[in-house]
Parts: sequence; structure tokens; C-alpha cells
Amino acid sequence: MVKGINKAFVYGVSVGGSNFTDRTKESHRLKMNFENGLNVVLISPRRMGKTSLVKHVQEIVDKSLIQTIYIDIFDCRSEYDFYNKFAEALLKQTANKMELAIENIKRFLVRLTPKVAFSPDLTSEYSFSLGITPKEYSPEEILALPELLAKHIGKHIVVCIDEFQQIGEWPDSIYVQKRMRGVWQHQQHVSYCLFGSRQHMMTNIFQNKRMPFYQFGEPNYLQPIPTADWIPFIQSKFAEKDLTISEEYVTKICEIVRNQSSYVQQLAWNVMINTQEEVTEKVIEQGVSDLLAQCTPLFIEQLNPLTTYQMNFLRAINNGQHDQWTSQEVMGKYNLGTKSNIAKMQTLLLEKDFIERREDGLYLSDPVLELWLKQH
Ligand SMILES: Nc1ncnc2c1ncn2[C@@H]1O[C@H](COP(=O)(O)OP(=O)(O)O)[C@@H](O)[C@H]1O
Ligand SMILES: [Mg+2]
Repeated sequence: MVKGINKAFVYGVSVGGSNFTDRTKESHRLKMNFENGLNVVLISPRRMGKTSLVKHVQEIVDKSLIQTIYIDIFDCRSEYDFYNKFAEALLKQTANKMELAIENIKRFLVRLTPKVAFSPDLTSEYSFSLGITPKEYSPEEILALPELLAKHIGKHIVVCIDEFQQIGEWPDSIYVQKRMRGVWQHQQHVSYCLFGSRQHMMTNIFQNKRMPFYQFGEPNYLQPIPTADWIPFIQSKFAEKDLTISEEYVTKICEIVRNQSSYVQQLAWNVMINTQEEVTEKVIEQGVSDLLAQCTPLFIEQLNPLTTYQMNFLRAINNGQHDQWTSQEVMGKYNLGTKSNIAKMQTLLLEKDFIERREDGLYLSDPVLELWLKQH
């Protein structure tokens, strides 16, 4: 066992405990939805705090009533990849001991011979792979598993599926979605919390009338954590290290990264590192320049595959252009190619999450990329 250290700021991975701030309203609503068996769809740009929020709610729900299951399907590439992960998570997380999980496999998945693996550090951690293929079980049989398990353990089950947008990338995706919804919507003792980033994909799955998951659950758009909540959080972290930061500078940190949760913590950490006693303008500037340097390799990698026209499009947005894309003047000024090319570019840049649509037009999704493009 490694002794835990108390990190001041954490970014890039989901956070809990003293690294989790605010979100009392969202936590409460989600908790109520879970405890009342409502399906939920949770959408936000990446690194805003979806995973952290769901994991937090898993901790605070009434565990005597419901059993939550967490599954991250980011690396699932096909339908059966998913069924394996789905069944493994269900069986493992509904049993508090390995023996129980194995018993349940024998009870509910008789046709399988699971392989069990223990983690190398000899903790009680284990994992198993079920190796489900269409030969052993049909999709419907696997999709029905949570209902059987709920009855077996005598609790309502809430299945939380992270990075759900990935499903849109699988072969025969729409067909698979139809099957899922077909089984899930009839379950009495199971509800679902489906969440993910890449707004464009998620909105297409849940808000498009022709798609199977249309109106499957209550849509929730996770908003940024307000500056008023970051102020006490960040100030107390500085105070723990005998450092001070004024409200004004916390506000500035939030503004620079448009309150995107992960960047707020990353920039706050950059600032803390360079602070002697009290945060100054110069320290903030240094923090921002460090942040840009930290992001540079990733941005270069992300921008590398883009064509000149696509880059011109991003630069146009960064220059304050948000709509009227097909006006002669705009097309000429930014050199965007033909009209049909512009339409294709928009779709691609939305799908790849470089840009997002707001009420008054298109904007860059990443506040730091925006700063970076201004400098390069
Ligand atoms: N409630 C929160 N309080 C403080 N920081 C948060 C919170 N939620 C998210 N963050 C910050 O955002 C980062 C990404 O969070 P995560 O939950 O992984 O986002 P998402 O799942 O939306 O991509 C975390 O590492 C942390 O820095
Ligand atoms: Mg996440």
C-alpha cells in the first residue's frame, strides 16, 4: 500500500473527496433520479466533470435501496465488446466477493467458462473475462441480465454507462441501439444513466427523432462550475499551503479557461507552483504561458490532420466570425473554399469536437486551444 498524499489540485482524471467541489444541485437531482428509477442522459463537453459527478452520486445514494453499476465503454469497438464489458461489470459490481460473482456467473450465464485474473500486487482486486460470443448468448439475453440480477439481489439497479457516445462508432450502430432500447425500456427494476462527451454525437443519439434512443431519458446538460464556487475551493487550497490568492485572481483564472473544470484546476496548480506568498499578475501570466506549453504537443497532434481550409475555418471563428459562412465576403476573406466544402467542414469539425454550436453560431470548444491559436 502506498500512503495517500493530499494533492492540492487534480486534473485530467475524475475527482472525488476534497478535490470535488460544489455541484450540490446537480448531485441532488441525479441522486433523486437514481433513487426514483428515472433514466438520465448526461451531456457536456469533455473534462467538465461528468465522470466525477456520477461517481460522487454513486457514493451518496441510498445503498439500501439501489445498487449502482459503473461502466466505461471508451475502448469498446463493437457490440460484443460491449456485452462482455457490460456483463463483467454487472456481475462483479453486484457481488462484494469474488466467490459470489462466480456463483452468479454459474447461475445466470451457465454456458460460459470465465477466466479469473488477480491483480499482480496481491490485493483483493480481481477481474474476469467472460468471453461471450454470439454462439453462447444472444444480445437480448445479455441485455436482460441487469433485470435478473436486480431481482436476485433485491435492489433496484442503476447502470451508469460512461463515454456512451462511442456506440455511434460501432458497426451497425443504429441496429444495435434499437436492440438495446427494445430490451431496456421494458425493464422494471433497472434504470440507466447514459453519459458522454462529444456533444454532437450525444445529441444525435438522444435528440434525433429518427434515432432509437430518442427521448430515452431526462436530458441534462452539465454546466460549468460557477466562479463563486471556485473561489472558496481554490482559496482554501492555497491557504492549506500558507499561500494567498485574491478573489480577483481566482476570477481571472476562471475567465481565462471559461470555467472548464479541468483547466481551472490545471491553471490553479500552475499558479500555485510559482507563488511565493501571494499570487500576483506576473504569476498568473507565467501560469498561462506554462499551460499553453503543456497543451502544445496535444494541440499539434490534433491539428495536424486538418486541411488548410479547415484551419482557415478555425482561425475565422477565432477571429470573431461565428455565422454567415456562405456569404461571399466571409468566404473570400478567410479563404474557405466552395460552399459545399464549407458545409462538409462544419460537420467534420463538429463531429471531431473542435467546434460547438451555440445559439448565435459556431464557437471553438476548447478555451485553451482558442488562446493557443491566437498566439500561433
Ligand atoms: N466537481 C468538481 N470539482 C472540482 N473539479 C472538478 C469537478 N468536476 C471535474 N473537475 C475537474 O475536471 C477534471 C475532469 O473531470 P471528469 O469528471 O473526468 O470530466 P468528464 O467526465 O466530463 O470528462 C477533473 O480532473 C477535475 O480537475
Ligand atoms: Mg469522463
